[in-house]
Amino acid sequence: MASVLGIGQPRVDGPLKVSGRATYTSDHHFPGMLYGVPVCSTIAHGEIQAIDTRTAEKMPGVRAIFHRANIGKLFRAATNQSFGADMVRVDEKRAPLEDDTIRYYGQYVALAVAGTFEQAVAAADAVKVEYREGKPNVDDQLAPDIKEKVESQRGDAAKAFTAAEIQVDETYDLPPETHNPIELHASVAVWDGSSFTLYETTQGVMNHRNALAEMLGVPRESVRVISKFLGSGFGGKLWPWTQSALAAAAARQLGKPVKVVVSRQMMFQSVGHRPRVRQRIRLGATRDGKLTSLAQDYVNHTSILDDYKENCGEATPYMYSVPNLKITSALARRHVGSPTAMRGPGAVPGLWATESAMDELALKLGMDPVQLRLANEPQIDEGLKIPFSSRHLKECLATGAEKFGWSRRDPRVGSMKRDGLTLGWGMAACSWIAGRFACTANVELRDDGTARVSSATQDIGTGTYTILAQLAAEKLGLAIGKVEVVLGDSQLTPGPLSGGSMVTAAAVPAVLEAASKATKALLELATRAPGSKLAGRKASELQYTGGRVHAKDEPAASGIAYAELLRAGNLRMVSGHGSSPGTAGSAKPKLSSHSFGAHFVEVTWQPEIARLRVSRVVTVIDAGRILNPLAGRNQIEGAVVMGIGMSLFEETSYDPRNGAPINSNLADYIVAANADVPALEVHFVEFPDLHLNELGARGIGEIGLAGTAAAIANAVHHATGVRVRALPIRIEDLL
Ligand code: MOS
Repeated sequence: MASVLGIGQPRVDGPLKVSGRATYTSDHHFPGMLYGVPVCSTIAHGEIQAIDTRTAEKMPGVRAIFHRANIGKLFRAATNQSFGADMVRVDEKRAPLEDDTIRYYGQYVALAVAGTFEQAVAAADAVKVEYREGKPNVDDQLAPDIKEKVESQRGDAAKAFTAAEIQVDETYDLPPETHNPIELHASVAVWDGSSFTLYETTQGVMNHRNALAEMLGVPRESVRVISKFLGSGFGGKLWPWTQSALAAAAARQLGKPVKVVVSRQMMFQSVGHRPRVRQRIRLGATRDGKLTSLAQDYVNHTSILDDYKENCGEATPYMYSVPNLKITSALARRHVGSPTAMRGPGAVPGLWATESAMDELALKLGMDPVQLRLANEPQIDEGLKIPFSSRHLKECLATGAEKFGWSRRDPRVGSMKRDGLTLGWGMAACSWIAGRFACTANVELRDDGTARVSSATQDIGTGTYTILAQLAAEKLGLAIGKVEVVLGDSQLTPGPLSGGSMVTAAAVPAVLEAASKATKALLELATRAPGSKLAGRKASELQYTGGRVHAKDEPAASGIAYAELLRAGNLRMVSGHGSSPGTAGSAKPKLSSHSFGAHFVEVTWQPEIARLRVSRVVTVIDAGRILNPLAGRNQIEGAVVMGIGMSLFEETSYDPRNGAPINSNLADYIVAANADVPALEVHFVEFPDLHLNELGARGIGEIGLAGTAAAIANAVHHATGVRVRALPIRIEDLL
């Protein structure tokens, strides 16, 4: 049978989704279900003085107005550093409604529960909250409150910078960005008197179960978390947010299922964002373009309660060869909701700054920016002082330059024209971690000739159902259509968080091992099943090929179809279990594992009408072996679209008077839409990273966003001569 890996296999869950039959969290309905609507704080800093629920309680359909005094006990989760099945992480560490202190605009202060959504909205609006208001601090200057910490250091960056022949010393700003998956966060909680079933928009059913059990004060086995389909998450759904505990607590209090759907406005307030980041980058180089010093000092805002660090130095220590390097971080506390991971956390903001600075250095050197990167290609990861498992940035640069036609670039600003438009050509390199979270999987071979593969991971829209079907089908020699994939349920065998672009790499060894064990169980069965023509043979003399068990010295066709074998023995199934440990968080790695890539961007600029467009993007990615080029390309394209939004549009604005995110809707917070996006070209260089798993496949969900903003800003400079160092790039910047 032809291999089903490396082919453009369409989504196995595609028909369910396009026909509207895929059940997302908020699609769940239960008899007697009630609707909960949070009451959100209208100040960002202060204290609740009084909550008056009398009017709201008397409104039609209202079942309860919960607040601190009547919600029942909710606990904080004892978070840990595990990335395995025992992981416990939350975003906001405070239990909801824990005290009367307001720390950000939109903090939940009560929950109105009613028979219909409209009744609950009306009741939530009718709750009167009296505050003692303090002046919030949401300023964008990022004066640090938590002092500088050294993240990485080698040599003497300051001394080498001072001595450098060529210097770049610039500061790059990134505004807060809000995750805007089209699916809103939602929780549907069902309490049966002893256990919770929580339908959740989560990128991690295992972690969500563990964390919610602790917050609700019940054993883990009393919580089941289900997340069958996600309308994406982008990191905003990695860890539980407080609406989940509120829905569960309300369901327990009322003995009825309760659904809480976070509104688009609340999405900007209470379920995370990428924080504001300011980065000072200092590059020192020799006249011939060899880096001698790299310093990156960054500050990001965080919330009053939580210390969220946007790890901007993530990709810096290993990206280029440089003997002297220093990276520092600092935090500025602001009255904002807790920031969290957003697609490519750390590396994406970091590479926006460092890849912009590399372009500025290339200009000062009069050197081609591709050549500058090639001239500083490291032999090893100079940060960790270990070899790379597989690094093919050079191939990405070469392929990208060739596909884009980079050799035709005239480096003079504004010199390239087409159809009356000024062209800008820019490029940037990118990188993202490659690793595995711990993963287990079960594979069952069933008496109807089908197989089932299951794991308590989830498909956040990236194609995990399809990849697991491909892996099992490949190993079992079955058609994709014969494989059922079951994910998104914490009762399944433990599986990984959908984060860090790590699910595919983690699933490969676990699923292949599980499938292999299931076929071994069949061989045993064949030696003793009633009526088996292989009865009496040793299992070691038998082999499984394409759904049949046969003697090793005879062709597969001579053997027995496994369905027949199972039926003969009155067995519904044989099963196999596979597991693979995680690499993520390992203290002393022997190899540095990352994906790499390069973006080549063309913008068009019409100074007469101040019109800027991204007109062409060629992206080349080294993410190991690509198991599904259709899903893979889709991930890179989606990330580049997000990169266009990041470069040109996205910014969450806070009202300095009350700390409210004021553009909290999809009309005022602009994300890139079809009209903003040209045809995108994506290529994979496909060097299998066999240290990561036997197929050499890495994850691919995040890397496409890394570097995109720098490539666009670099192209804008080439077109206009204006260096924009604060995103998003606005027309006003270019006039
Ligand atoms: Mo990703 S930010 O790890 O969902």
